Amino acid sequence: MNKINKRDTFKSKIGTIAVLAGGCVGLGNIWRFPYIAGENGGAAFILIYLAVSLCISIPALLSELALGRNQRCNAFRVFRKIKDKHPWKNSGILGIITGFLIFSFYCIIGGWALKYFELAIMNDFSGKSTAELSESLNNFIQGGIEPYLYGIVITTFTTIIVGIGVVKGIERLNKILMPLLIFLLLILVINSIFFLPNSREGLLFILKPDFSAVTWNTIFQAIGQSFFSLSLGMGAQVIYGSYISEKDNLIKTAVSVSLIDMSIAILCGLAIFPAVFSFNIEPTAGPTLLFLTLPNIFTQMTGGYIFAILFFALVVFATVTSTVSLFEVSVSYVMEEFQIRRRTACLWVFFALLLLSFLVAESQTKDSSLVFFGKSLFDWFDQITSNFMLPLGGIITVIFAGWIAPKTLLKDELTNKSTLTTNTKYFSVIQIMIKYVSPFFLILLFLELIGLL
Ligand code: TRP
Repeated sequence: MNKINKRDTFKSKIGTIAVLAGGCVGLGNIWRFPYIAGENGGAAFILIYLAVSLCISIPALLSELALGRNQRCNAFRVFRKIKDKHPWKNSGILGIITGFLIFSFYCIIGGWALKYFELAIMNDFSGKSTAELSESLNNFIQGGIEPYLYGIVITTFTTIIVGIGVVKGIERLNKILMPLLIFLLLILVINSIFFLPNSREGLLFILKPDFSAVTWNTIFQAIGQSFFSLSLGMGAQVIYGSYISEKDNLIKTAVSVSLIDMSIAILCGLAIFPAVFSFNIEPTAGPTLLFLTLPNIFTQMTGGYIFAILFFALVVFATVTSTVSLFEVSVSYVMEEFQIRRRTACLWVFFALLLLSFLVAESQTKDSSLVFFGKSLFDWFDQITSNFMLPLGGIITVIFAGWIAPKTLLKDELTNKSTLTTNTKYFSVIQIMIKYVSPFFLILLFLELIGLL
């Protein structure tokens, strides 16, 4: 009992920011943000994204961090501890399930990245035509067992880090990998901007403001992307919040994390799109961009061998810091609800995920029986979590923090009991965001996603 009640806290401010940013920076930054920005007005989109982050997602992030730090428990228990008679008291379970489902396919994609890192080292892309690259990608994914095995490597690594603990495992990993990730990214950006022919066009794709491309849909895209990118709506930030020191300034932390996350997303765009345009290739997003378009470009680029290795190392780092965060959500739940040790909980979650991710990988094989209504289990999990469970979880959390939890909770946490004067001055504005603006737009987004708007 004692060892379970004693709660770790992150050791340094830098460590805290690295951990939170590590949980946020992931595939969303690499394969989604740059493309959405390019298609939706470039710098105009980036401005909207900034506004949306300030008014909608940072308030949601602050709600999660505040709930977590105030109660210092897992994301399921938080609601019950605050209001154990409220009809929503069990709603935290939604986040735990969401995190578990996301992990089951995120680790498989992490496995693809690992495989491609290996292929890059083996110089396997070189001399292959687009058709050959595409064929080997399809064979790999549809083979089922190989992506699964690589996924297991990612899951095992994640289990070990989380098993080591909050400070020595999670904080230390992020303190090493995040600076490394930024360093790799800067090398790639410099190469793309300064050493590739015709990089201007790619820069214009992401940076040129085009307000005529902005529609209502752009705003929804910005909200959805910023929400996913900051890993909101499933308790991941609640659990990280529960490890943040009492002395830290939550508002400063949240704003820094959001700025880092956004800057990394923009830098990914500056690394990727000048290269895409430089070789006259159509811009794409998602798996095709990472595993087809880019290998194809690396085969043609001077120094492509090295840049491919650096790039896929970056993708692996970005996924691993995210799987650690996802894993911790389930582990803290199992640990506290079943009153078992961290390492035992890690093993439980590990085995459960081995099973689920097997099904997910299997669902992508040719003639798999795990295809329902024309979509594989993989696609179902991806779509149900991002389009339904995450926004719903987000709505529940902001409404809970703004309206249901005791009034003093947010104020105490965001101003450190009124000791931070600047925060106290702005508190009422932030409170309006959390109580009205953020839930309003999240509900609109939710209605749009489920097709009611
Ligand atoms: N933010 C991650 C990305 O941009 C994805 C993600 C969503 C996530 N929810 C999460 C990662 C929870 C860790 C924990 O790719």
